[in-house]
Amino acid sequence: MRRDIYEHLLALENVKKTINGKEIIKGLSFTVNEGEVFGFLGPNGAGKTTTIRMIVGLMRLSEGDIIVNGKSIKKDFEGAVRQIGAIVENPEMYKFLTGYQNLLQYARMHEGVSKAKIDEVVKLVGLEARIHDKVKTYSLGMRQRLGLAQCILHDPKLLILDEPTNGLDPAGIKEIRDHLRMLARDKGMSVIVSSHLLSEMELMCDRIAIIQSGELIDIQQVNDFVQQEQINYEFETGPLNEIVSWLQDKWKAKMTNKGFVIQATREDIPNIVRELIHNEVDVFSVEAISKSLEDRFLEITTRLGSEA
Ligand SMILES: Nc1ncnc2c1ncn2[C@@H]1O[C@H](COP(=O)(O)OP(=O)(O)OP(=O)(O)O)[C@@H](O)[C@H]1O
Ligand SMILES: [Mg+2]
Repeated sequence: MRRDIYEHLLALENVKKTINGKEIIKGLSFTVNEGEVFGFLGPNGAGKTTTIRMIVGLMRLSEGDIIVNGKSIKKDFEGAVRQIGAIVENPEMYKFLTGYQNLLQYARMHEGVSKAKIDEVVKLVGLEARIHDKVKTYSLGMRQRLGLAQCILHDPKLLILDEPTNGLDPAGIKEIRDHLRMLARDKGMSVIVSSHLLSEMELMCDRIAIIQSGELIDIQQVNDFVQQEQINYEFETGPLNEIVSWLQDKWKAKMTNKGFVIQATREDIPNIVRELIHNEVDVFSVEAISKSLEDRFLEITTRLGSEA
């Protein structure tokens, strides 16, 4: 028995994909824990969708194996895939049917999905008011919510969403984010989301895997790399006097039309504010601009790009 693998909800073991003689995925190995929101981050063409298609069984592996809750996708395809709910690229729906009819249709194809379960899921994604309207009258956000409802109907252990916030407005993005976090926290579901939007992943995920050119570059705990690192702080101040030279020399401050921006840790801020006040500079606001993940991502991918 391979206990090490069974304890994770998902394990990729040296997964490779070759299409037309070209190796697109070059040996990916990682694991996802139960109740974890796991991010798949990478630039366009990195191989996110291809990897997801292999996990959900839409595409064959050229090499390696994928284990879903102890079931090998190679040896027990049905058993592995049954435990997954997924939206890959666009959710498939019948536009001329209502949202509810779509869910009924889907329920017929899956064993043991009751009407009560449909109601529960509709409520969960907040579609009660519009569920009996035709899908063609839905906004993009509503379609996304219906898609989410559809893929959690059979209580999957693993939910996979490829770019779930694509095309959504900030309110819609927050909604999806809250839903996914809730599913992980309250239902113990493991969730994998892919995105090239870094700031968003930071808010949604527990861990993030950075992938580029079909290779795993790094896996990081989100909290770790957000807190350790220096981040940008934007200061809105009155006119700066001689203190400018201190800011520029010691803090490498960049001047803006409102004041300045510096890179610092949270602990540095009180000292800087004190120094400004001491020099009779008015401080109107200090805002943390959380870009560390983005900076780090770009740093890693740019470095790799230049090595290639
Ligand atoms: N069926 C296919 N035939 C040939 N090449 C393919 C095929 N599917 C994907 N690729 C190539 O594999 C690479 C990875 O594509 P993939 O769609 O997985 O990237 P992605 O990370 O999802 O990108 P995006 O952010 O643009 O969605 C790309 O170079 C793509 O051109
Ligand atoms: Mg993609």
